[in-house]
Amino acid sequence: MTQTIGWNDFVDTEAQVEYRRLTLLEQIFDPFTLRQLGSLDIQPGWKCLEVGAGAGSVARRMAELAGGENVVATDLSVKFLAPLADLGVTVLHHDVTADEAPGAFDLIHTRFVLDHLPDREGVIKRMVSWLKPGGWLLVEVGTTLPELSSHPQTRRSMEVLDRVLTERVGTATTWARTLPVPLEAAGLADCGAEGMIMPARGGEPLAEWLKNTTKLVEAHAVDTGLITREELDEAFALYETPTFLDYTWMTVAARGRRA
Ligand SMILES: C[S@@+](CC[C@H](N)C(=O)[O-])C[C@H]1O[C@@H](n2cnc3c(N)ncnc32)[C@H](O)[C@@H]1O
Repeated sequence: MTQTIGWNDFVDTEAQVEYRRLTLLEQIFDPFTLRQLGSLDIQPGWKCLEVGAGAGSVARRMAELAGGENVVATDLSVKFLAPLADLGVTVLHHDVTADEAPGAFDLIHTRFVLDHLPDREGVIKRMVSWLKPGGWLLVEVGTTLPELSSHPQTRRSMEVLDRVLTERVGTATTWARTLPVPLEAAGLADCGAEGMIMPARGGEPLAEWLKNTTKLVEAHAVDTGLITREELDEAFALYETPTFLDYTWMTVAARGRRA
């Protein structure tokens, strides 16, 4: 079996093209995330942790609600988080799988990080141990749905995306579908989950993001013969065609509270 290398060795997380992928991600998925955060009724003074904060929009929102001095934003790659310091947010270079507790929190949130970490259940246990009594853990995880694809070529490119991420990064592309059971197993109370699927319409942000995400595996997939250049180009062209629609990405948000 091939050794996995982890997300931050697979992706150049400091490249400008990755910044574009992260900000597109925020544009697409923040409305759902902010609705989840809104339902937790964050109060000024809550200690909040954003794990794997990416380009920082969720930590920014936490700062608006709880006060910047109460927010910690962590990542293995903190280049795009520097502006948060102006809001009083603590930005930490921190590995959620290995480093010490970055504090004790009323709310810990993480989005599209756990699925890429091989010991995701272990990481949940670590984050639970960083919660204050009564504190919330809110996790968001994505799952591709190639089986729902409306076109054979986008189905195939998504299956190849899944395969390369699984084999090279250790990503679990269907693990989101098990939530909230892993939160219950970690001892959290009041657990619940919600799945959200939106249309990926050609030329619109979600389709562009799916194309850009597939581009992360493009070279490896073509070089190893998993898919041809022509097949990938056909999928990319569909992602740019306004009459094309796919419902092939689900975000699951799951929450639980420390007793
Ligand atoms: C797909 S991006 C998601 C970014 C952000 N959470 C968002 O949804 O906008 C995954 C992020 O997790 C970070 N990451 C990956 N492994 C990590 C680890 N072990 N500890 C902390 N952050 C990690 C990456 O550097 C990257 O910023």
